[in-house]
Amino acid sequence: MQQNRRLAIAGTLSLVLIAGAAVVVGAVSGAAPGGAAFPSGTDSSATQTPTPRPAPAAPPAPVTVDTFDRAARSLDDPTSIWVVVNKLRPLNPQDYEPDDLVDVPVPHTWEPLLRQEAADAIVAMFDAASAEAGLELASNSAYRSYSAQEEIYDGDDLSTARPGYSEHQTGLTMDIGAVSGECSLDACFGETDEGIWLRDNAWRFGFILRYPADKTPVTGYEYEPWHFRYVGVELATEMHDTGFSTLEEFFGLPAAPEYG
Ligand code: DAL
Ligand code: ZN
Repeated sequence: MQQNRRLAIAGTLSLVLIAGAAVVVGAVSGAAPGGAAFPSGTDSSATQTPTPRPAPAAPPAPVTVDTFDRAARSLDDPTSIWVVVNKLRPLNPQDYEPDDLVDVPVPHTWEPLLRQEAADAIVAMFDAASAEAGLELASNSAYRSYSAQEEIYDGDDLSTARPGYSEHQTGLTMDIGAVSGECSLDACFGETDEGIWLRDNAWRFGFILRYPADKTPVTGYEYEPWHFRYVGVELATEMHDTGFSTLEEFFGLPAAPEYG
């Protein structure tokens, strides 16, 4: 009896030891938790599918902060290079005359006067057109007084401004053409080499094409690819970079298709 109990205990111990050894061997040979084991003699790291890692976070998109100060200059003062003149915004006073008009030393069909700052910018632009593209530009009209506008106004409100309502009276505007006279003061000027160069480059010198083809409902005037308005390099560059083509839209002013 005693002998039988000893044998039974020994047998139980043997089973426990064999089971324990199996667990140790399994762990050493790479048995997976679920019982699956890698084939013996292989490097488990070579065949194991790498645990997917999250893709590196994309750098945050740059935050575009519009730092341009739209209130930096007056839109009402006729001496401001940002003054906005249209059918709803006459010059104030209506017979305003700039006090720094100078002759503009460029080829012309009619003696051009502009305010000093705009005159300097025109000379720089004409020089660049010649140096960069071999184009010879000319002035067809620049400053026009209230009384000069009275003579020019032809009753067609889509093509000429009434006296007191013309940008030409600011001394900041020039009608530009080719020295050749091709398409002078005509819509086809926009397709000439000179017109295309001006359209693409005027902003670099502080000018905007004031009456674009598709903006008659905003500006009140038909396409005038020859009429360039000086607003300064800072504003012209901002409008170019942000895709605004009219002063009304850039400054959030009412469209001015008709006189009030
Ligand atoms: N042709 C432009 C609109 C003017 O007369 O001022
Ligand atoms: Zn004009």
